[in-house]
Amino acid sequence: MSVFINICYLVAAVLFIYGIKGMTSPKTAVRGNQLSAIGMLIAVVGALLDHNVVNYLYIIMGLLIGAAIGGFLARRVQMTSMPEMVAALNGFGGGASLMVAAASYMEMQILADRTIAAGGVFEHPPLQWSVALILSILIGAVTLTGSFIAVGKLMGKLGDSSQVKMFKAIVKVCFVLLIAGSAYFLYGDTMHSDNLLIVMIVICLLLGVALVMPIGGADMPVVIALLNSYSGLAGSATGFVLGNNGLIITGSLVGASGIILTMIMCKAMNRSLTNVLFGGSMAAQAGVSKDENDKFYEGKVKMASSEEVAMMLESASKVIFVPGYGLAVAQAQHATRELASMLQKRGTEVKYAIHPVAGRMPGHMNVLLAEAEVPYEQLVEMDVINPEFAQTDVAIVLGANDVTNPAAASDPNSPIYGMPILQVANARSVVIVKRGLAPGFAGIPNSLFINENSVMVHGDAKLVLQEMIAAMKDL
Ligand code: TAP
Repeated sequence: MSVFINICYLVAAVLFIYGIKGMTSPKTAVRGNQLSAIGMLIAVVGALLDHNVVNYLYIIMGLLIGAAIGGFLARRVQMTSMPEMVAALNGFGGGASLMVAAASYMEMQILADRTIAAGGVFEHPPLQWSVALILSILIGAVTLTGSFIAVGKLMGKLGDSSQVKMFKAIVKVCFVLLIAGSAYFLYGDTMHSDNLLIVMIVICLLLGVALVMPIGGADMPVVIALLNSYSGLAGSATGFVLGNNGLIITGSLVGASGIILTMIMCKAMNRSLTNVLFGGSMAAQAGVSKDENDKFYEGKVKMASSEEVAMMLESASKVIFVPGYGLAVAQAQHATRELASMLQKRGTEVKYAIHPVAGRMPGHMNVLLAEAEVPYEQLVEMDVINPEFAQTDVAIVLGANDVTNPAAASDPNSPIYGMPILQVANARSVVIVKRGLAPGFAGIPNSLFINENSVMVHGDAKLVLQEMIAAMKDL
């Protein structure tokens, strides 16, 4: 049976790898997701056949309750709330690792007491078991509270903290205590360290809070990718505790892919992970007040009406849409697609410029536009589309800000300096659609908005697009 179970885990691991590969392109993402789901089913079947399963009743109850809650939440969650959902799932993953490892420890204690009571000699579990146990408990606890703080920040319930120094100090103290506690656990009386473990769990729960609290709300997607990696590492450590190969492989895959995604996001924002984790809120670092922001634009912005933009579009032979976070907020993807289809019917070439960190989560714009059934071939990656702006009549920036900000290339003091941007300014005319002059995630003004060839249309992206569509129909 154990050979069969391990084959199940191996097949599942191969399916996970193909699944992850599939998710690297929008075209193959659905298939990738299906392959991973089949892999998970095979892994679950393998785990249920395991000799360690003593009671199927609790497992079935857990499955039913979990599936009901998961199904309900997945149906209700809005696309814009997906990061919160992922963060919560990471938190539960970390919590599960914490509890399974703690239960294994208690089980081992009972076994030790019974063996000694019966006059036998209890063979102490090997050091690697104790290391895996402590890692599983500690990483799981940090992931649990860290993820729920991230959920609170993403929901806007927790603001950006000004107590960065205090949280940094708490983090340092927690690390010192945890190193000392872990050393005592591993080399002291491991099997009778209940109180020590409880104290260490509490410290880790606090550490999760102190690590995530000082990070700016808008950096949460990076933190979530990192916590996702942690939940995988905790799961993998739990796999070593239980001797479950499936959990070891799956946890490692999640851990590795989470950290790779974290690094890709940091690179696309031209920031180091240390800067994201310990640099405080990015807007606070930039230090641009509302007054400074308003002064930057004072008297320099050229406004246009939706009707005027419709006239510009009518004579354009090539138009590039540049979506950003505001498009997601406005839920303007369907209106964008409608306007694009109208233009195409008139013979205009239409493309969408996709920046890797536009929006607030990886692939945000791809997912959003796919929902409106925009053909994949019209979504063009930054490096490919940038040279095309020079041959473009109109670039329409929809709720995008930082990803088009020329300061990233020209101002070494800018917090986004070095971040590759969409070179929208090279288009013959640039139309910027947003509600006002508020900065984006980085909290800094954007000189694109006051360029010679730029005009702004202020308003909610969806409403403005609907006005443009109506105006185009009247032309
Ligand atoms: P941002 O720079 O954040 O700008 C979004 C703009 O949308 C805002 O300036 C806002 O201006 C506008 N907006 C908001 N609601 C709107 C609505 N209903 N209609 C029209 N406009 C609206 O967005 P971006 O250009 O997509 O850049 C993303 C930023 O997030 C980057 O700095 C990136 O580094 C960061 N980030 C991204 C990720 C990932 S993985 N995507 C992860 C972490 C951080 P108004 O309020 O004036 O309308």
